[in-house]
Amino acid sequence: MFVYRTNRFFWPAAHRKAPSDETAFLLVPACPRASSSRKHQASHMDTPLRNLAVIGAGAMGSGIAALFASKGLNVVLIDPVDGALDRALKTIERQLNVYAPAEVQQVIQRIRMEQGLEAAAASDLVIEAVPENLDLKRGIFAKLDALCPPHTLFATNTSGLSINAIASAVQRRDRFVGAHFFTPADVIPLVEVVRNDDTSEDTVAKVMATLRFGGKRPVLVRQDIPGFIANRIQHALAREAISLLEKGVASAEDIDEVVKWSLGIRLALSGPLEQRDMNGIDVHYAIASYLYKDLENRTEPSDLLKSKVDSGHLGAKSGQGFYTWSPERRERVLREKSAALGELAAWLNGKAGGS
Ligand SMILES: NC(=O)c1ccc[n+]([C@@H]2O[C@H](COP(=O)([O-])OP(=O)(O)OC[C@H]3O[C@@H](n4cnc5c(N)ncnc54)[C@H](O)[C@@H]3O)[C@@H](O)[C@H]2O)c1
Repeated sequence: MFVYRTNRFFWPAAHRKAPSDETAFLLVPACPRASSSRKHQASHMDTPLRNLAVIGAGAMGSGIAALFASKGLNVVLIDPVDGALDRALKTIERQLNVYAPAEVQQVIQRIRMEQGLEAAAASDLVIEAVPENLDLKRGIFAKLDALCPPHTLFATNTSGLSINAIASAVQRRDRFVGAHFFTPADVIPLVEVVRNDDTSEDTVAKVMATLRFGGKRPVLVRQDIPGFIANRIQHALAREAISLLEKGVASAEDIDEVVKWSLGIRLALSGPLEQRDMNGIDVHYAIASYLYKDLENRTEPSDLLKSKVDSGHLGAKSGQGFYTWSPERRERVLREKSAALGELAAWLNGKAGGS
C-alpha cells in the first residue's frame, strides 16, 4: 500500500506526528544509497552542507527550498521580482499541506525570504533556479562569486545550458556543478550532478551528500554534454513519438497508451541497459540491425512541432496541444499526477532498498 500522504518528504514514521523539537526535522533520507552510506565510517563526505541559498523562487526554486527546509537545513530563498516571494510562500504552503499546520510553520520558519543576493553570503551551498538564460545566470554567479566566502559551493539547476559556459563567470570553477532537478522538485528523486571541466572531487562529494540528505538520488554526469542524460533520452523518445503521430501511425492517445503501459511501467524498475541485458544483447543487436535505419533521425524539430508552436497550441497551459485541456482538467491532472508520482517514488525507493 502506498504511504505517500504521510511520506511526501520521506518523513520517518517515528516523527510523523507532532514533532516536539527541532530534531524531528532531521529526517532519515529515503534514498537507499544514503541509508547504506551510514553503514561505513562517517566522514565529512557524508555530511550535508547545512546553510543553503536558493536563487529564484519560481516553480523549481520554491520546491527545492521546501525540500531542504523540511529536512532541517537552513534555507534562504532569494528573488528580487515583485510578488515572487509571496507566490513562492503560497506554493510552499500548498506543497507542505500533507503535514499538520504546526509542522508546516516549523518548516517555513527555516526558509528566510530575501530580495537581495547579499543574503546568500553566509551559505555553504547556493542553488540557482532563475529563468533559462545564459547571460542572466552568468551575471548572478559573477555577483555571488564576489559576495560569498571561498568555501561556498555553487550549483545551477539549468535544464541544458552548458555548465562550463555558466561556470566561466566565476573564479571558483572547481567549486561549481550543475544540479539538475526534475519537476516537481520536491517529488522526483533523481538529480543529475554535472561536472564542469574543473569541478573538484570534494565539491561533487559534498553536493551529493547534501542531495542524499534531502532524500534525493543524485547521479554524476561526468561530461558537460547538451541535455545531460535524462533530456537526451526523453527527447529521443519524444522525437520518435511525434514522428509516429505525424505519419498517422496511431492517435496521440494510443501512442501514449503504448508507452505508458509497456515501456513506461517496465522502465520504472529496469533502465534501458539493464532491460537489454534481460532481453539478450544478441536479440537487441538483431533488431537494431534492421530497425535503426527506419527510426526518426531528423536534426531539427519536426513540422508538426513547429506548427503547434506557431499556432499557440503550447499544451496544457494554452488549452490545446496534442490534447485539449480545460483549466479544471489541467489543475486536476497536475494535482493527481504529482500525488501519484510521490507515491510511486516512495514505493520504488522502498523496493530498491530491499533489492
Ligand atoms: N520547470 C521545470 O520543469 C524545470 C525542470 C528542471 C530545471 N528547470 C530549470 O530551472 C530554472 C528555473 O525554472 P523554473 O521553472 O523554476 O522557472 P520560473 O519562471 O518558475 O522561476 C524563475 C524565478 O526566477 C526569478 N528571477 C528572475 N530574475 C531573477 C534574478 N535576477 N534573481 C533571482 N531570481 C530571479 C523569477 O522571479 C522566478 O520566480 C531554469 O533554468 C529551468 O530551465 C526547470
